[in-house]
Amino acid sequence: MQQKILEIKNLGKSYGETTALANFSLDLAPGEVLGLLGPNGAGKTTLISILSGTLRDFSGSVAFRGQDLFADRRLKNRIGIVPQEMAFYEDLSALENLLFWGGLYDIPEKELKRRALELLAVVELSTRAREPVKKFSGGMKRRLNVAIGLVHRPELLLLDEPTVGIDVQAKVSILDIIREVGRKGTSVVFTTHQLAEVEQTCSRIAIMDQGKILATGTLAELIRIVGEKEIVEVSGEFSATAFSEAIPAPSGAGIEILSVSDDFAMLAFADSQDIPAMMQRLFAHRLHVADLKIKSPSLEAVFLKMTGRSLRD
Ligand SMILES: Nc1ncnc2c1ncn2[C@@H]1O[C@H](COP(=O)(O)OP(=O)(O)OP(=O)(O)O)[C@@H](O)[C@H]1O
Ligand SMILES: [Mg+2]
Repeated sequence: MQQKILEIKNLGKSYGETTALANFSLDLAPGEVLGLLGPNGAGKTTLISILSGTLRDFSGSVAFRGQDLFADRRLKNRIGIVPQEMAFYEDLSALENLLFWGGLYDIPEKELKRRALELLAVVELSTRAREPVKKFSGGMKRRLNVAIGLVHRPELLLLDEPTVGIDVQAKVSILDIIREVGRKGTSVVFTTHQLAEVEQTCSRIAIMDQGKILATGTLAELIRIVGEKEIVEVSGEFSATAFSEAIPAPSGAGIEILSVSDDFAMLAFADSQDIPAMMQRLFAHRLHVADLKIKSPSLEAVFLKMTGRSLRD
């Protein structure tokens, strides 16, 4: 069996009364690009902080290529981190930043400069390489942040919400870089709460919430969790409570409420012929339905089923 690049076992971390991670276990094979999908507060940053060595006082174990990640400091040099909060010197240029951060590793000067210039080209910052970073847009800063995470040629790259707060073009460019890094053999874990990003970018997806992994698999494997069902989205003017009273769970007839909030519900139907019956019940309870959409099973449906909440919350 191929050795795992990362084996996380039973990781636990609390901040006082708050449990951020509990029995969190996850494996990563070499070359995998894993999208870790979780809503706000799920524990994503806590996980990345533990793996990057900036957070202590946790329980459980992490093995990197079969060795205890925290026993040998040199192992961490084989991991690249792109934190949620960007880390660089605003007064230095992009090139100077790369030379500074790369300088923390044992890389010969000429080789470091060659790599820095190469990475600036990869993240499409070559023409702005010598400008102070404070003049950069948010998207340019994010791309520089990714380049900094790659300058020491890590075997594993961890990115914490690398596409937050940037425009569509910059997002696409960062996802392209992630895919390309993965194609060249670097393993990648990136966290996000954007479903489309993991659908488009990852070879494997993990869904987490409240400090735990709820499901992992390829997109097709995850979608099978919902099964061969019709997904129905209902929006209108109703409270979550009123909706649940109208369509009690388990509602029989193969109707499953995947998620319900005020004014929006998502349901799975084993048989689409039951959809009119649901509408009748909603009318009987005087709930106003403004829109009804019938869809194929999607990652969103799986996510809602597993977490019971919407990413839009
Ligand atoms: N320094 C801290 N002190 C106290 N509680 C914290 C601290 N950092 C995180 N938490 C709590 O731990 C839980 C997990 O937080 P974490 O930042 O890991 O989530 P996240 O998945 O990264 O969320 P987001 O999508 O908002 O970035 C949350 O309940 C959060 O409030
Ligand atoms: Mg976070």
